[in-house]
Amino acid sequence: MKIFVSRKIPAPGLELLRKQHEIQVNPDDRVLTKKEIIQGLKGKDGLLCLLTDIIDKEVIESEPNLKMIANYAVGYNNIDIKTANKYKIPVSNTPDVLTDTTAEMAWALLFSVARRIVEADKFTRQCKFKGWAPMLMHGQDVTGKTLGVIGTGRIGVAFALKSKGFKMNVLYYDQVKNKQLEKEVSAKKVELNQLLEESDFVSLHVPLLPSTHHLIGEKQLKMMKKTAILINTSRGPVIDEKALVKALKNNWIFGAGLDVYEHEPEINKELFKLENVVLQPHSASATTETRTKMAIMAAENMILGLKGEVPLNCINPEIFKS
Ligand code: DGY
Repeated sequence: MKIFVSRKIPAPGLELLRKQHEIQVNPDDRVLTKKEIIQGLKGKDGLLCLLTDIIDKEVIESEPNLKMIANYAVGYNNIDIKTANKYKIPVSNTPDVLTDTTAEMAWALLFSVARRIVEADKFTRQCKFKGWAPMLMHGQDVTGKTLGVIGTGRIGVAFALKSKGFKMNVLYYDQVKNKQLEKEVSAKKVELNQLLEESDFVSLHVPLLPSTHHLIGEKQLKMMKKTAILINTSRGPVIDEKALVKALKNNWIFGAGLDVYEHEPEINKELFKLENVVLQPHSASATTETRTKMAIMAAENMILGLKGEVPLNCINPEIFKS
């Protein structure tokens, strides 16, 4: 069968696909326009796409042959699942393999902001370091503090469990109770407002849904401690970016660590001027090991889907029922 791959992914995934199918890979290392995706998809049976590709009704309906969509990401808010369901097209994602990698990035951001790593590195490179000084680069301690985890899916749980060594008081906000977190780190389930008011570090791990859009806005930022740090490795629109700029400029909170942005790849330029925010280019899952595992997983899902079988990481398995 024929597969369109919307951007180059690590070779082991492409090799797997090539063994069984004919593949066409976008030759340019850039995000394709909708028109280009539709063009690439012509006459193909499968689409392997990225979180940066908007796979909406128009794209799905452009190719009547389309039998499988494999997303190279765990998040799938870029795909119109309703339309995929209508045409009984399985959609898969790449969970589990990126859980620890993403949780590690949330910790990297937390420490970078708490200990002002990026700002201090810049300061040192600019030869401003004139010797040890009692008042130089004060940050925030992490050990023994209160960690607030919003969303306790796989990544939120992995992130919270990694706090063990830092003897933290863990609060979490989710719809369901998480027994593992309560047992392993004595985490306490609380309401969002309580979490925001009491946490020293707040980390976001929710999917992007209508209910999580702007979950953190001006009101929520004002509830946080002045010394608090906000981390986002989930999806940009979960935070009202304009409100965050205001909070950081006016020191409503100590700082923020962001891997994702509301209008990605656009970033509110005001953020560039601020020292109390550390910015990453949506790279929380970017390690050689993890990106390779994601490529293999996406390819395996594609192969199963094209055989008419339920992909291992199928988002819409209900389509196979009727
Ligand atoms: C995902 O897979 O959804 C992540 O955002 C990739 O880094």
